[in-house]
Amino acid sequence: MQEFTYPYKYPKNYKGSGVPTTLSTIDEVPKTFTPIEINNLILKNRIVVSPMCQYSCKNNSGLMNDWHLIHYSNFAKGGAALIIFESTAVQQEGRISYADAGVWDDCHIPSMRKIIDSIHSFDTCVGIQLSHAGRKASTQPPFLENSRQSIPENDPSGNGWKVVGPSPIRYNDNMSMPREMSVEDIHNTIQAFKDAAIRSLKAGFDFIEIHAAHGYLINQFLSPTSNKRTDQYGGNFVNRIRILLEIIESVRSVWPRNKALGVRLSCEEWTNDGWNMEDTIHLVEILNQLGTIDLIDCSSGGNSSNQKINVSPMYQTPFANSIKSIINTPLRTSGGSSSSSSSTESGDSRTKNQIKVSTVGLITSGNEIESILQDGKADIVMVGRQFLRNPFSVYQFANDLNVKIDYQLQYYLAQRK
Ligand SMILES: Cc1cc2nc3c(=O)[nH]c(=O)nc-3n(C[C@H](O)[C@H](O)[C@H](O)COP(=O)(O)O)c2cc1C
Repeated sequence: MQEFTYPYKYPKNYKGSGVPTTLSTIDEVPKTFTPIEINNLILKNRIVVSPMCQYSCKNNSGLMNDWHLIHYSNFAKGGAALIIFESTAVQQEGRISYADAGVWDDCHIPSMRKIIDSIHSFDTCVGIQLSHAGRKASTQPPFLENSRQSIPENDPSGNGWKVVGPSPIRYNDNMSMPREMSVEDIHNTIQAFKDAAIRSLKAGFDFIEIHAAHGYLINQFLSPTSNKRTDQYGGNFVNRIRILLEIIESVRSVWPRNKALGVRLSCEEWTNDGWNMEDTIHLVEILNQLGTIDLIDCSSGGNSSNQKINVSPMYQTPFANSIKSIINTPLRTSGGSSSSSSSTESGDSRTKNQIKVSTVGLITSGNEIESILQDGKADIVMVGRQFLRNPFSVYQFANDLNVKIDYQLQYYLAQRK
């Protein structure tokens, strides 16, 4: 535990918010409350706050402020193992809205560092989701009027701009037609991801997640429905995944090898002609061979306005399950033997350096989380809206599972007896 600057020391038997109490014997501890390593990052439990845009930055600045400080610190106080900051734009034109958070300039570092320091003081890890919205940029925050249509670049509010994408294909009739990116634009965006990673390192993040899901720029390149290019960034599968691989390579070139790097994928576009699970598996096999990614975050949808999704509890977990079985298949090396390194988790076939897999989507109870982990369908579980309803959801999950965890010390009287 890190020490606060309080006029006392933590009691000796205090393990920290979100960690089973010393009274819990090992046998009693559900997998949900066991630690896990992602690369060198040690999470105290398996519960992660999924990235969620707050659309709360003032004056088109992209600067995080006290809203973000309070919002994120609450989840840390409540014992989440890792908090992934919202989709954060690597270029100004890559924001979903004018109120998005940004990391396109060094001026963004200090305000993020203040929040990171606060989160770390609760022994919670913190990541940033690096993002570019592409053709889905330049909109109103979704909770305001007219949020389902683009703000045109010449809007008198000054809150709109010209959007870009792989091809001049708009998301739907209410959204702006994107300008097709030139190869130079693509290279600039790859460089912007790299610069954003350098800033993320300076700010003190433990983890970077590259946002390649939900129909934003990278996802637009991956999918044959939004990418009709005829150059090296479009056409066949290899060309469509090129931008993602180049972004990963450029981010990894500045993000130390021992720091965790993840990618969020929309595993399925939920249309007949879009990116599908077969494509995802093919991509994950390539990522697995490359060995530069530590976490695959399995989401879905968002790239097609005619997607058909049947939403139900844990509906995206089958994607994570399939990806885990790919990753668990031993890698073939040139000598024909499987890769090996020492196992870090007893009873688990996984190895320390193996890619970890997360699931997300309508997961709201400790029993659901535990069943996912027990069945080996994912290594960690991300939770979104349940944390908005109750920032102390980790305490609720512990109650669901009948396990005693430490609460934030000052709240000890609220602890379940
Ligand atoms: C308010 C809100 C903002 C979101 N913003 C992002 C985001 O910035 N990046 C992202 O990848 N997903 C975003 N999502 C999706 C969540 O991360 C999550 O995948 C989704 O809500 C499903 O999980 P849940 O059922 O636990 O909420 C957002 C969801 C919500 C509710």
